[in-house]
Amino acid sequence: MSVPFENGVEDVPQYDPEILKQIDFSKSVAQYDPPISPEHPGENLIMRPLCLGDYDRGFLQLLEQLTRVGDLTREQYTARFNQMKNCADNYYVTVLEDTETNQVIGTGTLVKEIKFIHDASARGRVEDVVVSNQYRGKQLGKLLVDSMTLLSEKVGCYKVSLECRDPLVKFYSQFGFIRESNQNYMMQKWWN
Ligand SMILES: CC(C)(COP(=O)(O)OP(=O)(O)OC[C@H]1O[C@@H](n2cnc3c(N)ncnc32)[C@H](O)[C@@H]1OP(=O)(O)O)[C@@H](O)C(=O)NCCC(=O)NCCS
Repeated sequence: MSVPFENGVEDVPQYDPEILKQIDFSKSVAQYDPPISPEHPGENLIMRPLCLGDYDRGFLQLLEQLTRVGDLTREQYTARFNQMKNCADNYYVTVLEDTETNQVIGTGTLVKEIKFIHDASARGRVEDVVVSNQYRGKQLGKLLVDSMTLLSEKVGCYKVSLECRDPLVKFYSQFGFIRESNQNYMMQKWWN
């Protein structure tokens, strides 16, 4: 189902755009100067769910600034988009769009991993946060992480976590994330 956005564009969202409006930003523990919010991210900017048409608005090129994406065809993108849309309660792929250029300039994802433990609760993971080079330093990374973190509580996660490199620990601390001294992040990589 297509929905109209503030910029007049109609597109298919990955999750219900109304969910973003439910974020209680007054609960944010981060500082903003000047103040911005999910509803008012800045001049000519909107925050919204990823849309099907973002294949043509630079979404994958933006992700390339985070890590290797590969040459995804439109069909591959559409298939993955639809998979996530079909699990819309578990994936919240969120973007910032510059409405002047119609380009996606920032993104962050909340993944809700459902569990049996903690009374059949869920754990949130903030993933794939990136802000386009020319837009960095305008609090947009902060806004994306903050929004996905606050959203995790709203959608019923009993905790939320993320992985990051050492230099970004301070950045993530401002949202209330704590480095657990007795926890280690372990992984095996099968391919890049
Ligand atoms: C990390 C990233 C998302 C931050 O986005 P941004 O919009 O530039 O960040 P903000 O303007 O919201 O910055 C907020 C604060 O974080 C700090 N910060 C931002 N990026 C940082 C970095 N790479 N290392 C250390 N501190 C950083 C800023 O100095 C700023 O601090 P201040 O408020 O005390 O001045 C952006 O640099 C980016 O996309 N990097 C490449 C992808 C990446 O590393 N993603 C995170 C993966 S864990």
